[in-house]
Amino acid sequence: MKEVKETQNLSNRDLIDLTVQFVKKSLQGAESGHDWWHIERVWHNAILLSKTEDVDYFIVELAALLHDIADSKFHNGDEEVGPKKAGDFLKSIGIEGSQIIHIQQIIRNMSFKSSLETLSFTSKEMEVVQDADRLDAIGAIGIARAFTYGGFKNRELYNPEILPALNMSKEEYKTSTAPTINHFYEKLLLLKDKMNTKTGIRIAEGRHQFMLSYLEQFYNEWNGKQ
Ligand code: ADP
Ligand code: NI
Repeated sequence: MKEVKETQNLSNRDLIDLTVQFVKKSLQGAESGHDWWHIERVWHNAILLSKTEDVDYFIVELAALLHDIADSKFHNGDEEVGPKKAGDFLKSIGIEGSQIIHIQQIIRNMSFKSSLETLSFTSKEMEVVQDADRLDAIGAIGIARAFTYGGFKNRELYNPEILPALNMSKEEYKTSTAPTINHFYEKLLLLKDKMNTKTGIRIAEGRHQFMLSYLEQFYNEWNGKQ
């Protein structure tokens, strides 16, 4: 209660600033796929995408900032740690209950893993934040993040004998140990057709083409061509 009183007179901008500070502090030392810079890119993308959508910016910004506050991969697969941590923080700065519930629903439902199951929730704000996160998984940065993740997991770059698995369930996706190139076919190249927003669709198209060129060059080099 004490903290709520202290934040009563803060503007939305102040509340966003407090959230930025909290997220930066919480993510100190995080691996590079989910560090503060990922959050900053998603936050900025989310603001950009909001310009051509009819959404509540305050919800979009808070959800973008808090969407990776705790990754279930590092909490024994517990997918409620993130929403809980975000909810506790938002309560501590005096955000309204209905807004907290909305932001928690966005965090819970926006990941690619969740999209492999039937979704229980959607909203315009969630569509924007989900697109912003997806844009960071494709293109030049998406490629860098995929190989970082693969290196962290000691995966092969590519293995022509291991074919990509399409139509994986959420469980299969989470337990896959395939080479990183397979991840392009299992996730990255599928994202373009899952985009929700006008601007997101346009940007994803360009990044998708870039990944196709990258793969073409990769196979050329792999096969000893120029
Ligand atoms: P999401 O939260 O959308 O399910 P993740 O947290 O699983 O995404 O992934 C974080 C980053 O690591 C993304 O850029 C993603 O493409 C990459 N990544 C996830 N799984 C793999 C994998 N099996 N191989 C390579 N990169 C991966
Ligand atoms: Ni993310």
